[in-house]
Amino acid sequence: MPTNKIGILGFGCVGQGLYDVLQENHQLEVARICVRDKNKERKLPASAFTFDAQELLQDESLVILTELISDPAEALTLIRQALEAGKTVVSANKKAVAENLPELIALQQKYGSRLLYEAAVCGSIPILRTLESYYADEPMQEVNGILNGSSNYILTRLDTEGISYKEALQQAQELGFAEADPTLDVGGYDALHKICIIAAHAFGVVVDVREVLRFGIESITTEDVDLAHKLGARIKLVASAKYTAAQQLQVQVLPTFVWPDNELYYVQNEFNGVQLEAKYAGKQFLKGRGAGSHPTGSAVWADVSAALKGYKYTYPKLKPAPAAPATNTLQLYIRSKGDFPIPDIKWEEVVSFGVSHEAVQLVGVVKKEELLRHQATLESRSTFVVEVPEALSAMEFIQKALQQERVVA
Ligand code: HSE
Repeated sequence: MPTNKIGILGFGCVGQGLYDVLQENHQLEVARICVRDKNKERKLPASAFTFDAQELLQDESLVILTELISDPAEALTLIRQALEAGKTVVSANKKAVAENLPELIALQQKYGSRLLYEAAVCGSIPILRTLESYYADEPMQEVNGILNGSSNYILTRLDTEGISYKEALQQAQELGFAEADPTLDVGGYDALHKICIIAAHAFGVVVDVREVLRFGIESITTEDVDLAHKLGARIKLVASAKYTAAQQLQVQVLPTFVWPDNELYYVQNEFNGVQLEAKYAGKQFLKGRGAGSHPTGSAVWADVSAALKGYKYTYPKLKPAPAAPATNTLQLYIRSKGDFPIPDIKWEEVVSFGVSHEAVQLVGVVKKEELLRHQATLESRSTFVVEVPEALSAMEFIQKALQQERVVA
């Protein structure tokens, strides 16, 4: 009979995944599960549930609390309260963690409490523990990857089956990968929250999420997917954090053309993949299920087990001051939609090429600040923005696209 009791706040996709894992492993007793909706039909008897989170927060017999609800504001309130009461909390809420990291670190220090959140970043991939423990001392040069399962699932379906964006999004929702508000997934916000959490553990830099360059995949069309095919590439939503030559930390989330020489090319469906580059170890690659009930439940369980053995994050690289945003340029492919013109961006260099009469396509190099200045307009006009790795020049990119076009014709 297990002796340790655990409280579960939230019984959605992740809460149910954790419950299943715990039931099979008999190491912890689930005291109560807190849910909001009193009328929802559930697979467990009513006696398993409470509707009052305070019942769990004030239960001194619980050794650990898991916060697995989808509302970030409510999650933050519960995490705060638990940490102030000196409790150990495991959370999967990336938005609540990413946007409030300095406060959450300070609360742990002040009250001697603990917060672990491996499940918040890349589902089942043990990325935070790897960065925190294994790479506690070794400087990191770059971390990048596919950090959002839903958008990767959608991009994969568009790429391999040619189904519509809407249909692919619906599938991601039905499979339980997408957030309650899927804009977080397809708009790149979820990947943004995850890369900011990664940056704190990999580089010791707390990044202000509002200052990070971010574009999502909502505006992708079959025209963009076809172009990627012609180039021999795939479009992936890539989040990255890396030091520039000027030693500034550059953090961004952008759809990106990825070729078969990049491990991320082979990360398909709801899988996530993370590439690490450490100063002495060199490059490494981690791949696994980034979303879904049992994979994410597994990550919560791993945190719960580790916490019970005394594990906590020490933020070994944490720097005292927040980082100034990096100043850098980006090489981009931009495709306008319908009659909407591409805004008047001040390009460093630009070449336009048209493949259809309904859109303008161009490749250009732009300063990040200039792109940020036009971000809202680009998004409101459903313009699709994709990073083109600098290894390929604009002319090479266009030649490849047009050469293939001629061959196909
Ligand atoms: N909505 C998230 C994703 C769930 O699709 O990756 C896992 O964090």
